[in-house]
Amino acid sequence: MKYPKEYLDEIKTRLKVSAVVSRAVNLKKRGKEFVGLSPFKTEKTPSFTVNDDKEFYHCFATSEHGNIFDFVMKTQNLKFGEAVKFLANLAGMRPYTFSKQDEEREKQWKEYSSIYNQYVQFYHEEILKNEEASLAREYLKKRNLSKEEVTKFKIGYVKRQPSFYERLKNQFSEKVLTESGLFYFDEKNKFFVERFRDRIIFPINNISGQPIGIGGRTFQDKNYLAKYINSPETSFFKKGSNLYNLDLARKLSNKIDHVYLVEGYMDVIGLSKNRIENVVANLGTSLTEKQILVLNQFFEDIIICFDGDQSGYKAALRAAENSIKELKPEKKISFLLLPEKEDPDSFVNKNGKDAFTKFTKENKVPIHKFIFNHYIKQTNDDPSSMAIFEKKLRTVANTIKDNFIKKYILEYFLEQISLLTPYSNIGKKKFYHKKNKSLKTTQKYFNESKSLSQIELKEFSLLYIVLNKLSIFQEKMHLIENVKFFTNENKLVLEKVLQELKTKENLKLDDLLLDKQLIYKIFKFASIKHILNNNKNNEDKTLELLEEIKRDLKNYELEYRIEELESKFSKDLSENTFNEIRELKKLQNIN
Ligand code: CTP
Ligand code: MN
Repeated sequence: MKYPKEYLDEIKTRLKVSAVVSRAVNLKKRGKEFVGLSPFKTEKTPSFTVNDDKEFYHCFATSEHGNIFDFVMKTQNLKFGEAVKFLANLAGMRPYTFSKQDEEREKQWKEYSSIYNQYVQFYHEEILKNEEASLAREYLKKRNLSKEEVTKFKIGYVKRQPSFYERLKNQFSEKVLTESGLFYFDEKNKFFVERFRDRIIFPINNISGQPIGIGGRTFQDKNYLAKYINSPETSFFKKGSNLYNLDLARKLSNKIDHVYLVEGYMDVIGLSKNRIENVVANLGTSLTEKQILVLNQFFEDIIICFDGDQSGYKAALRAAENSIKELKPEKKISFLLLPEKEDPDSFVNKNGKDAFTKFTKENKVPIHKFIFNHYIKQTNDDPSSMAIFEKKLRTVANTIKDNFIKKYILEYFLEQISLLTPYSNIGKKKFYHKKNKSLKTTQKYFNESKSLSQIELKEFSLLYIVLNKLSIFQEKMHLIENVKFFTNENKLVLEKVLQELKTKENLKLDDLLLDKQLIYKIFKFASIKHILNNNKNNEDKTLELLEEIKRDLKNYELEYRIEELESKFSKDLSENTFNEIRELKKLQNIN
């Protein structure tokens, strides 16, 4: 059974060859291509190249050549079907299941895309040459669009009394034609009406560049008509998962790491005309998490730039609250607020590309700041308003799926809030100093941790000093009294030493009756021993070394406690934990 081309194409468009290959081969960028050592042969000079634009890899050493499916099949020794499953998963797509319905759907898709292709092509040609389209052409001219943009975006014009339905009627059933959304049946007059008659039409393509929906703008001053209408959702056109111009914009992602997300067709076209082509639009619906995920597959930074009016701002806020959920550590979402009454189209046409780019650089705000700035504006200085404010920010942070991002954004919010509430902070500081003792669980962690060895060695060094200089510590017991050890064996040794120092005078190593094995280990592994032996009778130096080790041990403790609390915080998000972490970090800096 064959996978539908639509499905395979989607995998290919979602995954760059370099992204797939770099899982197995270390790639370096060289011009338009990537190079690396061939995975098919052992070699010292790289002869393996990857070209994302052409969607293939080539190995000059072995003449191996192919696309992502070939690569995965060869390097992982998979069958075609297994490679498809693997890559679909990597692309965040559902595995394809073959069934009767799928066959049916594949047939429907063929008809659907054929209808759309014919429709778009026909009306595009009409706008270019038909006399009846002259008003539409004039309108586009008035809006500064030249033939270049009309061609690039396959803009069309559906005339006042179109008859394209009649043409298609012979090729497709009535049912299929109505399901395309391009026509509907007029019950009263008993005939099929073209939805976009007397409108300029903008084809909306899927990610591989196939038209699947239409947006149509009226250009006459008839205010009883909606300015824009869009084709209805169909089984191949889902508004929440498509983005206008994604098919063209995604091709730039090899060169550009950011993408502008705007509101309208004309914004995309206006920016593109001004040579800013990494732009997509979400077409009047509110931004969905799915759209963010798709954009993130291609771009690191999504810059949301909506109209500089109240509804643009509201839409941006809604977009912020929806998209923050999907924020990932290596990705960014920012917001760009335009001056009053401007939209990206008007702004770039007035000021040009450089001004737009400069404006972006100077004014874009990361998503968490955008949200914070919005809610702080709604807040005044009274306790109840502040409480609502804090609650709201916590709720927003809580929707973030990635635990690391969640942690840091909440940290940012709480840090900002704490700057607004200096008094309650003073109290907290005292409180947490008192509590600054090792937790039981921390102790447990240390005992179980495999990474003990480093700490253990430090402890050995400290014991080495003490055991060799018992006479010093007879007087200066306080220097080692408060030292905290984490390995039980070592702790017992230190306790024993302290106890004996208290009760006996002129204590000797042998008096301690320590376990011979352990002494042997300490003397063998204490890394300090050479330095100490070089400074045999220098008491100051000895004490200096001791302090150094104590500081290191203290830092280990802080580090592990912070790590532990951070993992706790990512689950409970409690303010207490947060404050505790902050205090520990401060201590760490002092140390
Ligand atoms: N929109 C819509 N239906 C409307 C108005 C708007 O679907 N009645 C969608 C369209 O996708 C439009 C986008 O919302 O492109 C933004 O609307 P607007 O800012 O009004 O349109 P512009 O793109 O600025 O278009 P123009 O410059 O042609 O007025
Ligand atoms: Mn607009």
